[in-house]
Amino acid sequence: MRPENLRYFTFTIFTVLVLQVDSTQPPFSCDSSNPSTKTFPFCKTTLPISQRATDLVARLTLEEKISQLVNSAQPIPRLGIPGYQWWSEALHGVAYAGPGIRFNGTIKRATSFPQVILSAASFDANQWYRISQAIGKEARALYNAGQATGMTFWAPNINIFRDPRWGRGQETPGEDPLMTGKYAVSYVRGLQGDSFRGGEINGPLQASACCKHFTAYDLENWNGTSRYVFDAYVTAQDLADTYQPPFKSCVEEGRASGIMCASNRVNGIPNCADSNFLSQTARAQWGFDGYIASDCDAVSIIHDAQGYAKTPEDAVVAVLKAGMDVNCGSYLQQHTRAAVDQEKLSISEIDRALHNLFSVRMRLGLFNGNPTGQQFGNIGPDQVCSQENQMLALDAARNGIVLLKNSAGLLPLPKSKTMSLAVIGPNANSVQTLLGNYAGPPCKLVTPLQALQSYIEHTIPYPGCDSVQCSSASIDGAVNVAKGADHVVLIMGLDDTQEKEGLDRRDLVLPGKQQELIISVAKAAKNPVVLVLLSGGPIDVSFPKNDENIGSILWAGYPGEAGAIALAEIIFGDHNPGGKLPMTWYPQEFVKVSMTDMRMRPETSSGYPGRTYRFYKGPTVFEFGYGLSYSKYTYELSAVSQNKLYLNQSSTMHKINNFDSVLSVLVSELGTEFCEHNKFPVRIEVKNHGEMAGKHPVLLFARQTKQGNGRPRKQLVGFHSVQLSAGERAEIEFEVSPCEHLSRTNEDGLMVMEEGTHFLVVEGQEYPISIVI
Ligand SMILES: *[C@@H]1O[C@H](CO)[C@@H](O)[C@H](O)[C@H]1NC(C)=O
Ligand SMILES: *[C@@H]1O[C@H](CO)[C@@H](O)[C@H](O)[C@H]1NC(C)=O
Ligand SMILES: *[C@@H]1O[C@H](CO)[C@@H](O)[C@H](O)[C@H]1NC(C)=O
Repeated sequence: MRPENLRYFTFTIFTVLVLQVDSTQPPFSCDSSNPSTKTFPFCKTTLPISQRATDLVARLTLEEKISQLVNSAQPIPRLGIPGYQWWSEALHGVAYAGPGIRFNGTIKRATSFPQVILSAASFDANQWYRISQAIGKEARALYNAGQATGMTFWAPNINIFRDPRWGRGQETPGEDPLMTGKYAVSYVRGLQGDSFRGGEINGPLQASACCKHFTAYDLENWNGTSRYVFDAYVTAQDLADTYQPPFKSCVEEGRASGIMCASNRVNGIPNCADSNFLSQTARAQWGFDGYIASDCDAVSIIHDAQGYAKTPEDAVVAVLKAGMDVNCGSYLQQHTRAAVDQEKLSISEIDRALHNLFSVRMRLGLFNGNPTGQQFGNIGPDQVCSQENQMLALDAARNGIVLLKNSAGLLPLPKSKTMSLAVIGPNANSVQTLLGNYAGPPCKLVTPLQALQSYIEHTIPYPGCDSVQCSSASIDGAVNVAKGADHVVLIMGLDDTQEKEGLDRRDLVLPGKQQELIISVAKAAKNPVVLVLLSGGPIDVSFPKNDENIGSILWAGYPGEAGAIALAEIIFGDHNPGGKLPMTWYPQEFVKVSMTDMRMRPETSSGYPGRTYRFYKGPTVFEFGYGLSYSKYTYELSAVSQNKLYLNQSSTMHKINNFDSVLSVLVSELGTEFCEHNKFPVRIEVKNHGEMAGKHPVLLFARQTKQGNGRPRKQLVGFHSVQLSAGERAEIEFEVSPCEHLSRTNEDGLMVMEEGTHFLVVEGQEYPISIVI
């Protein structure tokens, strides 16, 4: 090759390389190779974030400012600032939903963990943390590969699973506020990352988590009421001890860098226009220092659907004054200028929002120049769908799946070479059902049928229903298949045609002819059958509970990419199930209760039964915390250091309850020193009497002797998952904080401690503690 040619050749390669780098480069500001931008103070990484954000905001024109108030923030080329997409999703794995992430480059997949409601059933906060840490890493790898235009993820969903019909209950960790709060903390800490420097004020973020939907949002569209117009009437008491605690934990302990305000109204005020929630509660009381996004279109509806604001400009003014920062949608882009021109809105309100927004982008490292070589900048595509992450997805499903019934030890089934197995049901070979909503493209996917086939060669699949809806069923065909097989596994339940965002269920029973199919198959089969339910929400399965032809029932949620393998392992005894239900399973008659009734507490006069295990008094199909195992476990409350607690407070602090004559003291008057000083350890010894190792969650509750008057029936105060070999025993310790765990919330929403006997409860064992005033 002659020199000229060589030069030409080199030049060509160089050009191609540059083009390639451009198309896969993550969007970032403050490029050190660009002399015109690197001198800006907002680019100086040695300055405090707040100062950098102030500098940047001061450089923007009004038009530029307005262009940053919506989820698709426009680029500002004159300052070297690329566009930014605030909207990405990562509920249980980096997801398709949300325009900030694209799977069309080097990275085509992401680990699809179980839908949250199933991961919750492990009651293992450490596992929740590891899952979101993996999600945060995968997200960062997508950004580094140039496939993300944002690193702000709109998860976790920490609304309380208040009503079993809620289409998005599957996205949540269930119905308990304490557990949901702990889930929120784990999720946020894992995702935001870096041994939790992502929790420091203005600390660096691997990715940004968002506590949603603030607040009291848990209805999609029921009996003519949609979430866009719903005005949730919520009492101060329910707000204080049910709806708000997960958000408080998410912010105070998790130090989330994002909050999303919900579409619905609470007590007349649209959430995104409620300065009491957004500014007084979240920012002032809880110390929130991140950004607040509206749920999608939750600003336009304040005018259009709710009529709360008379004009579009009024809606814009209401949300910006309340403390919201960015709008999912385009409403603020369209109407903010007019609001300023009409002198309804001062620029300082816009600047306040922009300061929050740019601070988060800076914490994500997007204004530090080329991320290669920087913190998080070296997370590569090999971190996505890694062996470790795929194993974690499998483990999460293993530990979540709940054994609801196992008569005469039907499960595990023998791994017999000669056995034939009928696999019946519309969810047996369905790919989509396994993932649940807000999923991404899984690393790989195995259906329940395929997983069972890996154990039993002679497998006879038969869908039995036309779809999950099962309006038409081939019952005779299924019966014939069942008759010819040694064992039958029915894989039934729900999917997104029954429950999803925008769609609440109307019934709690199985759809269409599923029940008829199950009963007929079970009656015809040679042996009692195994019933597997895939669903997010609970199902009234009273019928198989009491049908002796149905030997075993397993609930597998929507178990994610590896969930079917976990299911097969449990069915054939390679894994010992230990999951416990994170929500109450109500009977069908519960559908008489209006879904729009937000009251947690029962009302005897009207027959309103109340909600969740903390208050609901009616019959259940399965209770919160219920779950069997192949092992029998025993418990001993081995040491409680204290059985009397003296409040010794001056008489001015005593208060008689308005409805029954119980003395109480406000926890706030007891003071933090008293509360800290009176914490005590509770040790519980657990033994695995079975022949298999098992992972077993221990749930500690508290209850008061005195019931009624809005007191919870019982209340979860702690949980801990312990791994025990066959025959092994272990002691686990909980720290009980009387101020937190033995108190209750009064009608004014304030925490009080009441005199009388309280009990710590673990699996039917109780330990009394007297509170003396
Ligand atoms: C991926 O999709 C985005 C958005 O549609 C597009 O801008 C980009 O060019 C695509 N990238 C590739 C490599 O196809
Ligand atoms: C559904 O709405 C109708 C009409 O408003 C009402 O009569 C009915 O009671 C509602 N159903 C329930 C279960 O509340
Ligand atoms: C509180 O009162 C009880 C009973 O009168 C007494 O035994 C106890 O020592 C007191 N505790 C404190 C801290 O004063």
